[in-house]
Amino acid sequence: MSASCSGGVPLGSVIVKGLILAGGAGTRLRPITHTSAKQLVPIANKPILFYGIEGLAAAGISEIGIVVGETGDDIRAAVGDGSSWGIKVTYILQEVPLGLAHCVLIAKEFLGNDDFVMYLGDNMLEEDLVALVDRYREDRCVGEIDCRILLKKVDNPSSFGVAEIGPGGRVIRLVEKPADPPSDLALVGVYLFNAEIHRAVRSIRPSARGELEITDAIQWLIDEGRTIDFNTLDGWWIDTGKKDPLLECNRTVLDTIDRQLDGEVDANSQIEGRVRLGQGSSIINSTIRGPIVIGDGVVIEDSFIGPYTALGDGCTVRASEIDNSVVLADCTIDHAGRLTGSLIGRSTEIIHSTRHPPAVTLMLGDHSVVEIP
Ligand code: G1P
Repeated sequence: MSASCSGGVPLGSVIVKGLILAGGAGTRLRPITHTSAKQLVPIANKPILFYGIEGLAAAGISEIGIVVGETGDDIRAAVGDGSSWGIKVTYILQEVPLGLAHCVLIAKEFLGNDDFVMYLGDNMLEEDLVALVDRYREDRCVGEIDCRILLKKVDNPSSFGVAEIGPGGRVIRLVEKPADPPSDLALVGVYLFNAEIHRAVRSIRPSARGELEITDAIQWLIDEGRTIDFNTLDGWWIDTGKKDPLLECNRTVLDTIDRQLDGEVDANSQIEGRVRLGQGSSIINSTIRGPIVIGDGVVIEDSFIGPYTALGDGCTVRASEIDNSVVLADCTIDHAGRLTGSLIGRSTEIIHSTRHPPAVTLMLGDHSVVEIP
């Protein structure tokens, strides 16, 4: 990034704040989200939310507002005042989930008239936020941009906000979750705004789902003749709000880890490929085939842990096989057969049943999903 601009706004004067949206009920990740915020579900053993905070902090954003809802206490406990990332975090309570544009409305005091990056706390993207924010700062210096959106080609545009690009390469229309999508370009959950957005969020009306949509607020800017531009993402982007995309995201991030063994491995075990093994963990008579992340204080005995698995701190696995799964902290998996494609909440026990005649015994939270062979 150069120190000054050739014209327009001096580079140093474009203050960019961060606004992370971490409210929402997370209904598509129940039962995990009955007891925890969806933004705190781990990907490769790190809460999803932390990836966004780290990305914004690396981009030189030192003031981040986090909009929280019902699960605000958990998020506050996990993130604190932001000092561990060298940033200052301000919490903004959204008492009722009234939409993404409503989050901007209630964050006005924090945002003032500064530019900001709005980041949906359950989105993960490969794109480097440093490059993204630097490019925005530079472009803001030389020309007027009121809003920059990120777009990504998807197979299922009806599940997202969708952009229609006109012949001149301009954004001409945005529509939220259209039944008949005008393109396959979905709105990624990262947006860059200047202060014009505040007029927009005050002007729009709730959508059919009863929310103030950020998509409608940006459409309002378009209708007012403001300058909206876009970047199209080449790298991956995942909205982790459901189990299968979450597991996909876990696989994608595990593909980038390095081998690091801080625990103990006995002579009868094999550790193959890129495996990160936490402190105080022990592997006994087992095969661990990466990419895998295993937390601290984990015991694995007489087991096979296959690719794309993340095991949280304090888990115990005995005489079982697990692959392609995310297991949160303090679970016990004992003589459980083979588990695959699973997302398992904290302190869950999956143990062998000795009942005769054979039977499955369950104690499951509301909205659990079990597939039995
Ligand atoms: C929201 C936005 C949508 C965007 C998506 C990205 O949808 O409304 O335009 O494409 O995030 O994750 P929601 O997750 O609220 O359904």
